[in-house]
Amino acid sequence: MAILEIIEAPDPRLKTISTPVDTFDDQLKILVADMFDTMYAAHGIGLAAIQVGIPLRVLVIDLQPEDEDAEPEACDHDGHDHHHQPTKRTPRIFINPEILDPSAETKSYQEGCLSVPDIYADVERPSACRVRWHDLDGKAHEEPMDDLMAVCIQHELDHLNGVLFIDHLSRLKRSMALKKLEKARKAA
Ligand code: NI
Repeated sequence: MAILEIIEAPDPRLKTISTPVDTFDDQLKILVADMFDTMYAAHGIGLAAIQVGIPLRVLVIDLQPEDEDAEPEACDHDGHDHHHQPTKRTPRIFINPEILDPSAETKSYQEGCLSVPDIYADVERPSACRVRWHDLDGKAHEEPMDDLMAVCIQHELDHLNGVLFIDHLSRLKRSMALKKLEKARKAA
């Protein structure tokens, strides 16, 4: 297992259209494990393989990225000495994902991206959809998604088609975001 380097905009590799997975082997399992390590280390909630330079249609998502190893917080405000359990990880793997039946209803959500660090902007997307995908064994699944999961899967699926969330913004807002990113990189 390894923490991989995350590619950042405006690296042209992020515009790659990723290729479907057709071999569900140990190499794929290693890639997925490395993607989770990388995503958790960066405190992200989703990661596409192209963000670590691998042009395959593979996504990992965990909407509750709290560290399982974190010490439970002591709490005695109600006179009882009990402990809050740290949030449990809920890792999800999507191979060859497809969006079906996006809802006509849309919703705006403030998005960010590990490949566009420290930039956040409202993006409007269908508020619900169905998703079809394969698991690590190549078995097909289908499930309706809404709320943050719908936002996240649509954002991550965009990565597989070479699209970043800032590409959904107006040209002006997009160039402002890229300038801010360049400035922050120079300052670092
Ligand atoms: Ni992203």
